[in-house]
Amino acid sequence: MNHHPIGVFDSGFGGLTVLKEIERVLPDHDLLYFGDNARAPYGNRSFEIVHAYTLEAVERLFAAGCHLVVLACNTASAKALRTIQQNDLPRVAPERRVLGVIRPVTEWVGTLSRSGHVGILATAGTVASGSYEIEIRKSFPGVTVTQEACPMWVPLIENGEFDTPGADCFIERHVGRLMEADPLIDVVVLGCTHYPLIQGKIEKLLPPGVRVVAQGGVVADRLADYLRRHPEIAAHCSRRGVREFLTSESPEAFDRAASLFYGKPIRSRRQSDLA
Ligand code: DGL
Repeated sequence: MNHHPIGVFDSGFGGLTVLKEIERVLPDHDLLYFGDNARAPYGNRSFEIVHAYTLEAVERLFAAGCHLVVLACNTASAKALRTIQQNDLPRVAPERRVLGVIRPVTEWVGTLSRSGHVGILATAGTVASGSYEIEIRKSFPGVTVTQEACPMWVPLIENGEFDTPGADCFIERHVGRLMEADPLIDVVVLGCTHYPLIQGKIEKLLPPGVRVVAQGGVVADRLADYLRRHPEIAAHCSRRGVREFLTSESPEAFDRAASLFYGKPIRSRRQSDLA
């Protein structure tokens, strides 16, 4: 079989927290990561722009041989996935698939909550899309969902400033607001790929017994399950354990920051250099 990696896309670095988990459950699969660092963050951008950038990235990954692409970015999953699946794929590549990171979590999270009250921490764009609320309601109509937008968190994390007193102030503010809005919350979803880096800080600020859910592990397990249920797609995913990293910005800058999210060193290439 030729080279057909599973594509993993994010606006920048955050999707590496998901990639790490995918690698854990699918160690033999070839994986091609693409971070659109030149245009990140996506969190405050309009639906039209997020859709246009995400579709471009998906087509880039298709051209590189991917038959299956995971949008490992909540903002892209919230603002672009549905349009890509329903309108674009039938036109550009009807036999290929694009999956997101929101549904795997929303189809499961209601089973974790005893109080039936779930909190979402996410970017402003993801919150404005209402995607978490809509998707959780589909699976768990009785669950109350409260969202809190945390617009400063991604820039603080991306700039390596998340372990500072200044960052603590922003983290406390948003965790506090979420719990004030609904003190009955007993499950908090990290609805942004960057937030696992501050999961420990968030957990310390929450009342005892409130569980924090990061997406990576759930998304990876559901992806493995998807491949088992869709052998026709699995047959198009090559398995030589190859890892490749593309960025739309400087590879040197990407490599410096990326290991923070991925947990080990990375050697990336500029996406335009890929044949
Ligand atoms: N990866 C994005 C997400 O999960 C956060 C970064 C951004 O705003 O582009 O929402």
